[in-house]
Amino acid sequence: MSSERPSRAAASLLMLGATFFAGTSQAQQQHTRALAASNAAAEPPLAGPDVFENLSTKPGTVEISLVASEARLALVPGKSTDAYAYNGRVPGPRLEVREGDRVIIHFRNDLPDSTTVHWHGLHLPVMADGSPFHPVAPGESRDFEFTIRPGSAGTYWYHPHPHHRTGWQVAKGLYGAVIVRAADDPIAHLPEKLLILADNRLLEDGSLDVPEVRTHGWRVDRENGREGDLLFVNGEVRPTIPIRAGEVQRWRIINASAARMYRLAIPGHTFVQVGTDGGLFEHPVERREILIAGAERVEVLVRGTGAPGSHTPLQSLPYDRYIPQTRPAGWDSTHELLTLRYADAPPVPPVAIPATLRAIPVLDTLDATATRVMVLTQGMINGKIMDMTRVDVEAKLGDTEIWQVENLVGMDHPFHLHGFQFQVIDRNGVPEPFRSWKDVVNVPEHETVRFIVRYDDYPGKWMFHCHILDHEDHGMMGVLEVR
Ligand code: C2O
Ligand code: CU
Repeated sequence: MSSERPSRAAASLLMLGATFFAGTSQAQQQHTRALAASNAAAEPPLAGPDVFENLSTKPGTVEISLVASEARLALVPGKSTDAYAYNGRVPGPRLEVREGDRVIIHFRNDLPDSTTVHWHGLHLPVMADGSPFHPVAPGESRDFEFTIRPGSAGTYWYHPHPHHRTGWQVAKGLYGAVIVRAADDPIAHLPEKLLILADNRLLEDGSLDVPEVRTHGWRVDRENGREGDLLFVNGEVRPTIPIRAGEVQRWRIINASAARMYRLAIPGHTFVQVGTDGGLFEHPVERREILIAGAERVEVLVRGTGAPGSHTPLQSLPYDRYIPQTRPAGWDSTHELLTLRYADAPPVPPVAIPATLRAIPVLDTLDATATRVMVLTQGMINGKIMDMTRVDVEAKLGDTEIWQVENLVGMDHPFHLHGFQFQVIDRNGVPEPFRSWKDVVNVPEHETVRFIVRYDDYPGKWMFHCHILDHEDHGMMGVLEVR
């Protein structure tokens, strides 16, 4: 997406130069520092994605037009890729709504492929879920209509969900952010950034690197989930976030990767985590690092504790989520996602972070009427692969249930339930230290996670699945019917 931008490769070479020459004469050092500084100034700060244009003038209504089509884009400078794009861009525009809003989406599929648009994490009627049950054929249109529920303020996202083809279409470029805002957000005064994390793999000619079926590479992708060496934040490689010393920024982070998990850290800094998938926590939590699995979201406060004029990366530290046989070379290296760059200006006065963010209603295990055991093995749930004609779990509208997800294999599987936010009860028997609303929970190798959910509204057939898209596409998915 950055065709008109100065080459980032040149930018990082200059930065390398600055490091390399440190230790030579002072004049030389000053020269290289000046070069690096001027280059940094030319480096555009993290942008976008732009917000959808609202076609409605009615208060409390957000009406948008969404088109999925083929597009030839410079995903990285100097290479052009045959991509799929929402409204011509990767990632797609950002959907901004408020609790209580009526949302109307006019979707048109201009792809040569059948697709759907899934509003990941939103609590909405089943017909608006964009699940594999409701494909939109090439050339067809579909309207999605729903109301944003009170209490659901948070960070969500949208992506295609056609049966067997989700990983491919996301790799081609189809993903975008949804932000739901509350009327009474206790940290609305903080400057905010949206970070959509994605990765990809391109061949020399700019086309997607997708191995032929039944080759070794195909098997590795199928086991691990497809990972790429190109790490994007809002479609950019290694962008910059400017910050003032003393400033506190609110970052909403979405993991839109097919499989990659990010273990986030900023050297010399700690995060204050304030929320996850379904919005804010009750109280902020200090964290040195944060693991974000596929499709999860986190909200963190980044405090500008660095010195004016300094810079530091947002890192993804190594995390071993793989089975040993297909653990990729270099899995144990640290990646840099972006640069946090301090203005050369005096610190800003400190801002207070509220100790209480909101109240989260308790889902009481005493109210649970059933425990659903989900046994994860490689590619299967309860020994079965997905069958669109089968219902795996039948439940009654209004019921509260416990799901016990047992991972029997030697790799992590992030487990996602459509339609309903849940609360984690315990992980391997260790009680969750505090409440939060989630729709994805990572189940590490050989561990068991229990969560509680209430089907308070919206009957219908809802998917649950592993959010490693290759696993989902190969059938690590099932159907919950609420009636
Ligand atoms: Cu984000 Cu069924 O998925
Ligand atoms: Cu999986």
